[in-house]
Order: sequence, then C-alpha cells, then structure tokens
Amino acid sequence: MSALEGVHLGAIAIWFLSAGFDVGLEIVLRWTRSADLQRSLIELHRKIDVWIEGPAVIVTVVSGAALLRAAGLVGGELPWPGWLEWKVASGLIAATANLACVAFVLARARAARAAPEPTPRQIVAVRRWSAAIWLTGLGVPFALGALALGVWH
Ligand code: HEM
Repeated sequence: MSALEGVHLGAIAIWFLSAGFDVGLEIVLRWTRSADLQRSLIELHRKIDVWIEGPAVIVTVVSGAALLRAAGLVGGELPWPGWLEWKVASGLIAATANLACVAFVLARARAARAAPEPTPRQIVAVRRWSAAIWLTGLGVPFALGALALGVWH
C-alpha cells in the first residue's frame, strides 16, 4: 500500500467513525427533553464537523484525486475502469452530501445560539436544520457503495 492510499484509507476511517458517532448523537438529540443536553449536543456536532469530519471528507477527496493523478487517470490519456468511474462518482456524491450536512450543522448551531427560546427544539429554524441534516443521510448508500467498490474491485 502506498503512503497516498494509506492517507486515503485513514481519512475514510476517520470520516466514517465520526459520521457514525454523529448519527448516535442526532438520535439522542432527537429524543432528549433536556434543554442543556440539546444545546451541548448541537455544539458537540458542530465541533466534530469543523475539526474532524469535515477535514476528513476533504482529505478523502483530495487524496482520491491525487491517486487518480498518480495512476495517470487525469487528463484523459488512459481509459478509466468501469468500477472506478462508479466508485469516484459514489464517493463524490457522499462527500457532497456530507459537506452539505456540515453547513446545516453550522447553521443550526447559529440558530440555537441566536434564539431566546430555552429549549433548542422549540426553535423552528433548529427543527428545520435538523430535518435537513437527517436528509443528507441519503448520501450513506453512496459512501458504502464507494467503500465496497474500493475494497472488492
Ligand atoms: C466515500 C468515499 C470513498 C471511499 C469509501 C473510498 C474507498 C476506497 C478504497 C477502499 C480504496 C482501495 C484502497 C486500496 O486498495 O489500498 C480506494 C482507492 C482509490 N480511491 Fe477511493 N474512496 C472514496 C472516495 C474517493 C474519491 C472521491 C476519489 C477521487 C476523487 C477516489 C479515488 C480513488 C482512487 C484513484 C483509488 C485507487 C484505485 C486503484 O487503482 O486501486 N476515492 N478508495
């Protein structure tokens, strides 16, 4: 395994682990009645996305592009194997969905801090951003598809 493949796989591992943790966090946020816990979880998700998950997604895409370049697949000289086209497309869809999720998480934290309501889930904007965050879960099958194609090609 080359150092670049190691960086690619390491970033993917950090991405998937932090995303898995965030799903658990969102389930607790969805059900807890505690205003303090809701505020802490909204802030915790923001910090994870800014410092861990967001950078891991970006490193996955950049290292993937570098792997393409190293394989001489940028610039159209060599044809792409079919599995790699599907894998890169799935990986880019998953990365786009996750970066959109990061933007919604940041917007929700801003809305929770700005509104006077004691309990974040009473804030309409917080509920709307939370719904948008759950919707980005549509990217998960694409992430798993990219993983499967990357491992079993
Ligand atoms: C959810 C996102 C992604 C996942 C789960 C994923 C997974 C993987 C895996 C498991 C490998 C095999 C590594 C190995 O055999 O050592 C791999 C290789 C690779 N990935 Fe990704 N990847 C993702 C996104 C991307 C993106 C966005 C790109 C391009 C921009 C990309 C380009 C590549 C390339 C060029 C290789 C080397 C393929 C080869 O020649 O064996 N990947 N990826």
